[in-house]
Amino acid sequence: MKIRLDKYLTDMGAGTRSGIKKEIRAGNVLVNGQVQKRPEVKVDTEEDTVTLDGQAVAYAAFEYYMLNKPAGVVSATSDKKETTVVDLIRERKRRDLFPVGRLDKDTEGLLILTNDGGLSHRLLSPSKHVDKVYFAVTDGPVTEEEVRRFAEGVDIGDDAPTLPAHLVIESSGEHSRIRLTICEGRYHQVKRMFAAVGRNVLYLKRIRMGGLALDERLAPGEYRRLTEEEVERLCSQEKRL
Ligand code: URA
Repeated sequence: MKIRLDKYLTDMGAGTRSGIKKEIRAGNVLVNGQVQKRPEVKVDTEEDTVTLDGQAVAYAAFEYYMLNKPAGVVSATSDKKETTVVDLIRERKRRDLFPVGRLDKDTEGLLILTNDGGLSHRLLSPSKHVDKVYFAVTDGPVTEEEVRRFAEGVDIGDDAPTLPAHLVIESSGEHSRIRLTICEGRYHQVKRMFAAVGRNVLYLKRIRMGGLALDERLAPGEYRRLTEEEVERLCSQEKRL
């Protein structure tokens, strides 16, 4: 792909467009070892080597991260008051990263961040029914009655009941531990499903999305790049389902 030199460096987070233009005009940018003073010159993102102040700047068309979202952070790209999930990705090259879907502020767990709009669309499209698996702690006992009701679909106040969901009870008592697999992404869906059967969700964590499981080595707030194999697995999600 051929793009302007100033866009190349701005996309990679090397500075603001105006700052980058100044750097280029000042002779601080080399393309294939030659000083290039024209911000508008086209460079090939795959073939050309660009350096700024002696540092090579590799071009990444798409970036993919897995974040173990901590509680207290909002699933947005920017916010005037709150820390966002994008703020947590300190190593990002791209300035256009966004979260694939949303987790509530108090929800933890697997969140993919990317600038690949096509992948995001494939994972979130209602017609694709990508499975999302959550671990939750609720107040009060959860029984086979809830397993049956969730499998049938529950009325959570929307136009249509939820699609069948798979509930697994790990333990039931004063506080119950469960795993729930849903294939939709309605607003507050897990909390609203439990509210519909008279339970409050006290803790919620997403542990899987389609073929991608949360890497349990990541503490809340930690992240890592997805491997090529993981990206391919997510990209072929449509074919796998
Ligand atoms: N369901 C919820 O209620 N909250 C989330 O963050 C995700 C699913």
